[in-house]
Amino acid sequence: MKLNLNFLKFKKKNNAGEEEMESEYLVDENTPFNIREAFNTLRSNVLFALAPTNGKKLLITSANQSEGKSTTAVNLAAALAQSGYKVLLIDCDMRKPKLHKFFGVDYVHGLSRFLVGQEPLNETLVHTEIKNLDLMPAGVIPPNPSELLGSNRMKVFLDKVEEYYNYIILDTPPVGMVIDAAVLSKYVSGVLVVVHYGTTRRDDFMKVKNQLDMAGANIIGFSMIAVKSEHKGYYKKYYKYGSSYSYEYRAHRN
Ligand SMILES: Nc1ncnc2c1ncn2[C@@H]1O[C@H](COP(=O)(O)OP(=O)(O)OP(=O)(O)O)[C@@H](O)[C@H]1O
Ligand SMILES: [Mg+2]
Repeated sequence: MKLNLNFLKFKKKNNAGEEEMESEYLVDENTPFNIREAFNTLRSNVLFALAPTNGKKLLITSANQSEGKSTTAVNLAAALAQSGYKVLLIDCDMRKPKLHKFFGVDYVHGLSRFLVGQEPLNETLVHTEIKNLDLMPAGVIPPNPSELLGSNRMKVFLDKVEEYYNYIILDTPPVGMVIDAAVLSKYVSGVLVVVHYGTTRRDDFMKVKNQLDMAGANIIGFSMIAVKSEHKGYYKKYYKYGSSYSYEYRAHRN
């Protein structure tokens, strides 16, 4: 079966839910240079890390909640799209969907509905405002996300879309809380683990690494997020204003 992706809808940012949108961080030309550079560097490192296997599917996860997974996923996907690759960003966090908010679209039509056969691809995939970047929102919140994500239909879907995209980025829930990311890790080429400086504890991090290793995941590296408060002079979690952010990538070595 060949998919025809020409019928994808184009959706524009709407004005609804502006408060929610404010907390989402999509890098653009107004973003400080160091942050844009950090995502460009992350993009290069990911490209190098995936190259040996010709891998296209990258899963993003972390140990705990709110460590920057979705922010990393969307900005990495955007950085790849901006350098000319065709990219599909999939919100695999069906428990707490987030990626749709970056683009001002609805999450209801998306992955969960496609996986249970309620909606065809053309009603679930969305062209974003960023050229070359398509989004598959999470879909309505199902009772059994882990089963859906581990299903053969998910595997077939990922294999199919691989024919149309250069890279597929999957945003997932925290490994320390639910098994979704570990279950999905067997269907992807690589896993990038986000580490939040000052929040991710060493124990949590080791648990995540062990759990992913046990699932047979190919951990390609770690992306470190640090938030530095200029006012208080030390790293503080999610300090929104007057803060500087830095992102750092470390390759994974066994
Ligand atoms: N580098 C950063 N600097 C400052 N704030 C950040 C950074 N990365 C993410 N945030 C903020 O932290 C919050 C959580 O980020 P995000 O949603 O990306 O995390 P997450 O790991 O996907 O969370 P969840 O586990 O709920 O899915 C958001 O409000 C986001 O804007
Ligand atoms: Mg998230």
